Amino acid sequence: MATYRIAVIGGDGIGPEVIDQTVRVLDALAPHHRIEFAWTHLPWGCGYYRQTGQMLPPDGFTQLRQFDAILFGAVGSPDVPDQISVHQLLLPMRRLFDQYVNLRPAYLFAGVPCPLVGKQPGSIDMLVYRENTEGEYSPVGGRLYVGTPDEIATQTAIFTRRGCERIMRAAFEAARRRRRKVTSITKSNALVHTFVLWDETFRAVAADYPDVQTQSLLVDAAAMDFVRKPESFDVVVASNLFGDILTDLSAMVTGSVGLAASANINPQRTAPSLFEPVHGSAPDIAGQGKANPLAAILSGQLMLEHLGEYAAASHLRRAVEQVLAAGQALTPDLGGTASTKQTADAVIAALA
Ligand code: NAI
Ligand code: MG
Repeated sequence: MATYRIAVIGGDGIGPEVIDQTVRVLDALAPHHRIEFAWTHLPWGCGYYRQTGQMLPPDGFTQLRQFDAILFGAVGSPDVPDQISVHQLLLPMRRLFDQYVNLRPAYLFAGVPCPLVGKQPGSIDMLVYRENTEGEYSPVGGRLYVGTPDEIATQTAIFTRRGCERIMRAAFEAARRRRRKVTSITKSNALVHTFVLWDETFRAVAADYPDVQTQSLLVDAAAMDFVRKPESFDVVVASNLFGDILTDLSAMVTGSVGLAASANINPQRTAPSLFEPVHGSAPDIAGQGKANPLAAILSGQLMLEHLGEYAAASHLRRAVEQVLAAGQALTPDLGGTASTKQTADAVIAALA
């Protein structure tokens, strides 16, 4: 019997609502596969900030290192600047724990209404590899003459050959397990330093994978093709900013951000990886019990895969597919009337 020690950070808004249900689902799944989870609930987030002035305790990241994985909801609250909530907890963790792969699948499940007409279930099946530790989200820059008409702000994007190369290699390796195509997203026509380095690195890495088809798209054309012909994408590799934006789009063309799962992975396993829905804390629907828990539950599937529990992962995936196809327990974002808990109940029933 394998026991996995998992840190659970529900966070804010709908974060704890969807994560509580994910924990229930994973606990129901575990006995089928001779595994168990030892959950440690960490009450960090904006509530913790209001009490202590910090999003997490001073030794918070040290505490997290002892876990096999981290299950995360979302942080963010209208009364706390995102500059604090997102920048004290999530973004530094991705860098500190070297979670350089942000994996974001987008799949059109049977039973899910697609905003694009005529798309068959399974016809949209892409895997976005977003660089997660540098690029446009590097906290490099500053402001001068704050509050005056002369105010200046700079924010410097950091692209390293090593950083580009390692996310690209991860993408090519994934493509070899799939349909063997990698699309690289850039804006090298306008950003002639950072994205030209990206393009050059992409060509160099691609040379090591002659069996994988490659394509390079400017981000504006990519945005168009995510809508116009999403079937044409298999694995997509993108910078931190472009990957972030495009995956909200890929989530919407496959039905809802309430279905979009993600993993922040340290492939070398020198620190824990983190699994979280793509969506945020959704203050507009928080506390109403109507958030879709499936993005968080599918993030649980990605966690199981990372832990090497492949049978459990596909068991969970099949249960979610069954619930979506049946269409009886869908939350309002998918056109249904089910509550967060009712959707999770349906997944648990489908596991049996
Ligand atoms: P959001 O993802 O929280 O919400 C966008 C829209 O999608 C809203 O209309 C919301 O109701 C809907 N939505 C999101 N998740 C849903 C779900 N599971 N089921 C049904 N509908 C869902 O993005 P928003 O409003 O821009 O950000 C809210 C807060 O979350 C901000 O403070 C932001 O910084 C933070 N945020 C945190 C993230 C994280 O912790 N990883 C990621 C994105 C945003
Ligand atoms: Mg985003």
